[in-house]
Amino acid sequence: MNKNVFHKLSYGVYVVSTWDNGRPTGCTANSAMQITSTPATIAVSINHDNYTNKCINETGKFAISIMAEDSTPSIIGTFGFRSGKDNDKFAEVEYQVRDYLPVVSDACGYIVCDVIDRMETATHTVFLGEVKGAELFGDREAMTYNYYHKVIKGKSPKNAPTYIAD
Ligand SMILES: Cc1cc2nc3c(=O)[nH]c(=O)nc-3n(C[C@H](O)[C@H](O)[C@H](O)COP(=O)(O)O)c2cc1C
Repeated sequence: MNKNVFHKLSYGVYVVSTWDNGRPTGCTANSAMQITSTPATIAVSINHDNYTNKCINETGKFAISIMAEDSTPSIIGTFGFRSGKDNDKFAEVEYQVRDYLPVVSDACGYIVCDVIDRMETATHTVFLGEVKGAELFGDREAMTYNYYHKVIKGKSPKNAPTYIAD
């Protein structure tokens, strides 16, 4: 099996967020996709070991902030290479509460969902969310995963579903 072909799949770059007992938290994710249009549903795949997984399970809600090509790149690192278990990630990233969830201000926009189903895999939970709110923040170009790797020269850690060991 040539796993390099997986790199030909296209994604965006997102911050998936929720609450941790009243404190905002979340993680970077590339694995978000729209599943249906009416009603609008979105799926995200979150590693069992990510603190965000536990928090989404508890709240039954998540938001997706869509990173823009010109979003501050350190946001992706803050949310993607540290755990909310022992880091207050939103303390250093400006956010606003939209449709009852924290969303990153420096983004193309956001989508807020209620979890309506879950699918367990060996390593990740696929959360299926029904969209409860969505808004654009201006007219910004969404960052693709390819742009993140090729232009920002970003990396993906072990908990990302796209991770391939050297
Ligand atoms: C570009 C990028 C994409 C990522 N995609 C995912 C993803 O789709 N699912 C996932 O579970 N983790 C993904 N991660 C890894 C998590 O963001 C990372 O494990 C994070 O530290 C988890 O934080 P938490 O413990 O606060 O939830 C990604 C990280 C990066 C940098």
